[in-house]
This record gives sequence, structure tokens and C-alpha cells, in this order.
Amino acid sequence: MKKSATVLTNLKGLLTPDPQSLWKIDRIDDAAIAMSEGRIAWMGRRTDLPAAWSDSPTTDGGGAWALPGFVDPHTHLLFAGDRSGEFNRRLHGIPYTQLAAEGGGIRETVRATRAATVQELVALGEERLQTLRSRGVIHIEAKTGYGLELDAESRLMHAYSELKRRGWSLDVTLLPAHDIPVEFAGNTEGYSRVVKDVWLPELVRRHPGVARYCDVFIETGVFTIEQGRQILEAGKNLGLQPRIHADELSWTGGAELSAELGAASADHLMFCSEQGMKVMAASRVTPILLPTTTLCLGMRDWAPARAMIEAGCRLALASDFNPGSSPCLDPLLVLRLGCLQLRLTFEEALTAMTLHAARSLGHSDLGHLYPGARAAIALWPVQDPLELVYWVGEAYVPYVIC
Ligand code: NIG
Ligand code: FE
Repeated sequence: MKKSATVLTNLKGLLTPDPQSLWKIDRIDDAAIAMSEGRIAWMGRRTDLPAAWSDSPTTDGGGAWALPGFVDPHTHLLFAGDRSGEFNRRLHGIPYTQLAAEGGGIRETVRATRAATVQELVALGEERLQTLRSRGVIHIEAKTGYGLELDAESRLMHAYSELKRRGWSLDVTLLPAHDIPVEFAGNTEGYSRVVKDVWLPELVRRHPGVARYCDVFIETGVFTIEQGRQILEAGKNLGLQPRIHADELSWTGGAELSAELGAASADHLMFCSEQGMKVMAASRVTPILLPTTTLCLGMRDWAPARAMIEAGCRLALASDFNPGSSPCLDPLLVLRLGCLQLRLTFEEALTAMTLHAARSLGHSDLGHLYPGARAAIALWPVQDPLELVYWVGEAYVPYVIC
């Protein structure tokens, strides 16, 4: 689509979060959207289109519903190989934690990722980004974390940098503290020190301006709260804002730490405490819930989304796309589980996948369709947007403008 001025018309309607409020959604039937230079200049009822736009070229919306494109604020986009064999072993009853303890899990993907070239990683990333875009996702957060040695993490950064250069809209997070690599087996403390003192500064030096965030997998048997704190503080000193894999498989106080550090987000949170919810709300940390992970791990412990909203949190939803706990590039499944398992209303789940997801990444011009927003719009071929959730297995394909 040309970036010049055009009016998107013949829309059944539009649905957008109101960026001035926490959970309010505007629904406008028979809507039109005026766009100029890739931004939304006006939106409202077609019959109210300002006269200044009446002679502008139009774009046919095909009778679709216009929604802001989804923002996915937690993915592990780049990795090589897959873990379908491990997946079947889990179906045979072997727990995820046991597979990891036996040297599988994340470490299996690390072996495959270390063997991949930058070009191979870029090709994998581009294919996945294209799939996501074709399903309505117009911006993502993407982590390193399957290299777990300096040069392999650096190759992942190189690949992300190339994807950005090719115009993909993404924010990069450094996650060398995703697991303890075999070279440091039994020496988590030594690995934490190397990550914070050597690798983070070196990765930022080699790839200036590529990463915006730093993340740590704080979990029983992985990194402790104290190791997480130190790594994330080191990241902050390099200008990287914290995001945290927190309280995923057990309570460790990750949510509380996110508030203490002024993190952008605390993610997973199936075992978040009430105190954690309160402090995240007070510190404006975005809880990011990942329901496809709970599903794929076969867990019953859905994150306490309703309690978080009641505590005043503006929560977001994400895919956690990765080869182990969430091999899933389907934003509609995230939306549907948000409603059906996390007990969010459709309006809340949509806001969590657009406005609040974008805000957790500092993008006030994404996740809504108000003037000034980037014209990143998904046109859904439905009679009513609620159908996206209601027809549970339907693979709707949007037309995406971005
Ligand atoms: O977010 N929790 C840690 N990392 C991923 C799982 C990664 C993997 O299994 O490869 C997650 O669930
Ligand atoms: Fe994750």
C-alpha cells in the first residue's frame, strides 16, 4: 500500500482500545479511517468524514472489521531446530523439568542454534515474521537466549539487526541468562558473573542500539532472585530496561523484583503472589501472560489474570513463541485462551494484545487506531469481531496494512 493519503472505507466497522483509558474499547459501525504518511489522521463514522478528505483516493476495506494489528511482547523468535521428539516424550508423561535436567529442553535448542549461520537464522526469522504478519501481528519483542556463549549470542544479535535493517518492526531483548550452558554446568554463580560483567557489555558494544531490553529466567533450579537482580542491574547500567521470566513454574518473587527494578514487564506469572500483583500495579510494570505456554506444558495453573486486573494491573498477552514450551505462532489461539482460560472478556483480551502489549514496549503509537497511531491495521473478514473468539477453531486470515 502507498504511504500517501488515502481513506480506508467500505468497512463494516472498527474496534479500537481508547489510548486515554485502561480498558475502554470504541466500537464504530460503518467506519472510515483516513491515513497519511503511514499514520492514522482521522477515524470515525464514514458519514462524518471531514470535508478535507472527501476528494482523497480511497482504499476498499472489503466490508471487513478494522482492528489495530496485534503486538506480541514476548517471543523467542530466533532458534534453530525443533523439539517435536521431546514434545512426544512429554505426552508420554515425562515432565518438562526432567527433560531439562537430562540435558534436553533449552540445551537441545542451544546445540542446534550454535550450529546455525547468521544467514540461516535470518531466513528462519523472516519466515516466522511473515507468518505472524499474515495472522495480524505487526510488531514483536524478540529475545536472544539460545546461543548461551558469547559468539553464538552475538550471531543472534547480528541476525536481529539484519531483520530490523530489512524493515521488520521488532524490539530486541538480550537473554543470555535463559539457562546455564553445559560449559558452566553446576556453576550458575560463575555463569551469572560472566553474563553481567563480560557478555552484556560486549554484546552491547558489538551491536550498538540493537537491544533495548535485558531478561533473565528466574526460576527454581535456574537463576535465583539475587542473580537475576545483579544481571538486570548490569543491563540497566548499559541502558537496557529489565523484562523478567517470573514465577512461571514456581513462586520465586520475580513479580516483586520487577517492581523493585522498574522493569517494563514481568512475564508468565502462573505462580504470582498477591503482593506481586499489588506492587506491579503500583510500579506500572506490565504483567505479560502467556496462555499457550500453560496449554503446551499441560499445566492447570492458569495465571491469575482476573485478580491482576482487580489489583489494577494493565496486563498484556503474548505468544512466548519458542520450540519447547510454546511452539505457537497463532495470535488467535492466544486471544481465545485469554478469554476461555484466563477468563478475560473479549474486550480485555483484545486490549491486552494491542494497547497494553504496545505500551509494555514503550510504543504509544501502536495498539490503537486513534489519530497519530501508525497505520498498522488488520482487516478481519467477519460480521462481528467477537467471532474471532467465538468460532474457536476458525483460521481467519486478515488483510494486513502496515
Ligand atoms: O519462556 N521459561 C523459559 N523459556 C521459555 C522456554 C524455552 C524452551 O523450552 O525452549 C519460556 O517458557
Ligand atoms: Fe519466554
